[in-house]
Amino acid sequence: MAVTIDLSGKRALVTGGNRGIGRTIAERLAEAGADVAVFARNEQSVAEAAAALSGRGVRGLALVGDVGSDADVERAWDTLMKEFGQLDILVNNAGITRDGLLLRMKPEDWHAVLDVNLTGAFRWCRLAAKQMLRQKSGTIINISSIVGVIGNPGQTNYAASKAGLIGFSKSLAVEVAARGITVNVIAPGFIETEMTHALGEHAQAEFVSRIPLGKLGTTGDVADLAVFLASPMSDYITGQVICVDGGLTR
Ligand SMILES: NC(=O)c1ccc[n+]([C@@H]2O[C@H](COP(=O)([O-])OP(=O)(O)OC[C@H]3O[C@@H](n4cnc5c(N)ncnc54)[C@H](O)[C@@H]3O)[C@@H](O)[C@H]2O)c1
Repeated sequence: MAVTIDLSGKRALVTGGNRGIGRTIAERLAEAGADVAVFARNEQSVAEAAAALSGRGVRGLALVGDVGSDADVERAWDTLMKEFGQLDILVNNAGITRDGLLLRMKPEDWHAVLDVNLTGAFRWCRLAAKQMLRQKSGTIINISSIVGVIGNPGQTNYAASKAGLIGFSKSLAVEVAARGITVNVIAPGFIETEMTHALGEHAQAEFVSRIPLGKLGTTGDVADLAVFLASPMSDYITGQVICVDGGLTR
């Protein structure tokens, strides 16, 4: 028997849904029938991503803003509620890196990474959790990283933000569980996107040599798990961290 995931009638929001992992998550949620809002800074690519989602027969909604700004998130939330009226699936995916060894790390690089990767999720979750508690349903998926689980030299800021997201999600999962709301974390390993292309070929090859499945992950590998976590098939799973990393962490 074929298993199909039907998310029709559901309303989703993906931060950083204009490219990379977030874009594929937005597309797969739309393929499953959900209306999807995309929130990111670049007006043109957000509009393009939302239009592509609408082309799949669901509603795509473009929301422009910075997860690092309280005002931007609040403004986007108001538009989201006006247009969608509910939120069933929140995917906090927006993230940045500002790598460097701790002794050379500029305070602004520390603060920027924490503010986007961790506080950005806090901003969206606070508004979404209030709405989901009222709805007595909903699911939140936070995109962390295996770096938040095992650490990585040169990424103390990024690792702290992604580990913080794990503690945040486990705590929130318990706060909202009584109303049937789930909160889970996906921790991708080494996935082919613009973020990892920036590392260069040599570093990429070195990484692959350490992955038991012997290859980089794809954005689809992460998005498939997100769709499962967004679906009723995962209703009894909450507060979990699931690594999508080819067996790198175990
Ligand atoms: N690529 C990987 O190997 C990998 C591994 C582990 C975790 N991750 C995580 O997955 C997520 C997506 O990464 P990606 O590889 O697709 O990266 P990417 O750089 O291609 O995409 C990042 C997304 O975040 C958005 N974004 C960044 N700063 C923002 C801000 N201030 N406000 C709103 N949106 C903002 C961008 O518009 C973009 O859509 C990130 O959280 C990243 O940390 C990626």
